[in-house]
Amino acid sequence: MPQSPTKPFSDVLSGERQVIPPVWMMRQAGRYLPEYREVRAKAGGFLDLCFNPELAAEVTLQPIRRFGFDAAIIFSDILVIPYTLGRSVRFEVGEGPRLEPLDDPAKVGTLATQADFGKLAPVFEALSIVRGALGTEIALIGFCGAPWTVATYMVAGHGTPDQAPARMMAYRHPEAFAKIIDVLVDNSIEYLLAQLAAGADVLQIFDTWAGVLPAAEFARWSVEPTRRIIEGVRAKVPDAKIIGFPRGAGAQLPGYVEATGVNAVSIDWTAEPAFIRERVQSRVAVQGNLDPLVLITGGTALDRAVDNVMATFAQGRFIFNLGHGIQPETPIAHVEQMLRRVRG
Ligand code: CP3
Repeated sequence: MPQSPTKPFSDVLSGERQVIPPVWMMRQAGRYLPEYREVRAKAGGFLDLCFNPELAAEVTLQPIRRFGFDAAIIFSDILVIPYTLGRSVRFEVGEGPRLEPLDDPAKVGTLATQADFGKLAPVFEALSIVRGALGTEIALIGFCGAPWTVATYMVAGHGTPDQAPARMMAYRHPEAFAKIIDVLVDNSIEYLLAQLAAGADVLQIFDTWAGVLPAAEFARWSVEPTRRIIEGVRAKVPDAKIIGFPRGAGAQLPGYVEATGVNAVSIDWTAEPAFIRERVQSRVAVQGNLDPLVLITGGTALDRAVDNVMATFAQGRFIFNLGHGIQPETPIAHVEQMLRRVRG
């Protein structure tokens, strides 16, 4: 495993630019790796893998061993929070998540307010196993979903292209929708604090569906709940390092950074370079933003795209990553090619 004498990842989040940016990939533990598929088959269901500390630790470490990334992200899912709130959550092969829909105020009235964190003991155990196995120069990332994104799956009961069910519910029944969000805020604070206590060095808040909201709803349902989570975490751990990923937030990124207090934002591949440099990277670190499809493509298209990301962002505080998760069909050789190109 390639070693570096410093802590490049944490240093960037503290505001120190690295000459060679730290690198990791969203969804770096996953189906594009044969060693993941092997463990996944052994574990049974997806949640069985998340809740088996040894196997979850193993798949978290696999991409670190293979590629020497600068950060590991704990293997779990954003939907473990609805699960610990007593909702039914299943992952069907080839279909994605299936939850019991929470799509009217009467159902919201029955929603538990306190998650049963005992159910997540295996995730905390996996964090401590991974922290013990990693060198100090490699950061361990804990995470949760932003309340808006988690709520989109809770309301619809499954993924949708535009999150129409959650948007409709927020318009029709704002009080009931706000209750879902409030429950997620409170429990996400507790969940993130427990991850820090178990060994996470850094936290990431995934708001994959932030980009489907109009400005006023973005402020209310995405920014404000994220701000409250960060405030709640820092009330107990003042120097907690937090990365936000409001995917598709575009022109609203500077406002998100200002309001939430994140140390870094993860940006997708559609972000406008000069705008991000001037209005976002001038204030916090930036993480991103290679298009996962060019990583599937490889060849000179990949080299050019990596060079472009580096030329755009590597003069400032920067963490190299993809603009969203790696796709299962991505060739491993292309990940190696990307790393050689970034690290020179
Ligand atoms: O390596 C890592 O990034 C750590 C683990 C991780 C997973 N999910 C594992 C996973 C993380 C950080 C997540 C976050 C997550 N989960 C998000 C936010 C980030 C994003 O990608 O947008 C969302 C929206 C979810 C919800 C979710 N989980 C969906 C929509 C799906 C189905 C889509 C798919 O890729 O199959 C999952 C399942 C899931 N979560 C898998 C993995 C590795 C695939 C399941 C499998 O291996 O069978």
